[in-house]
Amino acid sequence: MDTLNPLGLAYLHVIERGEYPALADLRPRWSSTLIANFNGPTPTTRAEGEKVVDTGLADVFSFGRAFIANPDLPARFASGAPVNEYARLRRRRRMPHRLSRAAGRTGMSRRSVQAVG
Ligand SMILES: Cc1cc2nc3c(=O)[nH]c(=O)nc-3n(C[C@H](O)[C@H](O)[C@H](O)COP(=O)(O)O)c2cc1C
Repeated sequence: MDTLNPLGLAYLHVIERGEYPALADLRPRWSSTLIANFNGPTPTTRAEGEKVVDTGLADVFSFGRAFIANPDLPARFASGAPVNEYARLRRRRRMPHRLSRAAGRTGMSRRSVQAVG
């Protein structure tokens, strides 16, 4: 940070995750705009983001999953409209190794190989 801060960069975007209190550590050492994000198990809520800004730990809070579920998130926040919950898509089941190898050998699509069996 002693090297980065004097460069006069426009902003620093920090994703805080795990034990290291990145915002508390970096805020006093970064003099331009600090954008925060938490990468927790559940999407950060508006109230949680506002708390970070209100307490001075960051200038701006960014949202990931809430934005995916609500492409109009700023308008919803501004009007107080309800916010859709983020629904995580299930991962596709992995193809059994035997079918995957067969698809590679024949050049067939995985779906065709599965259909053939
Ligand atoms: C589908 C998806 C794609 C993402 N892609 C990126 C990415 O390309 N680069 C990145 O820095 N973070 C990426 N993230 C992480 C988000 O920027 C953010 O750190 C994370 O979603 C936590 O914030 P949230 O609680 O508001 O969702 C992605 C998250 C999701 C759910």
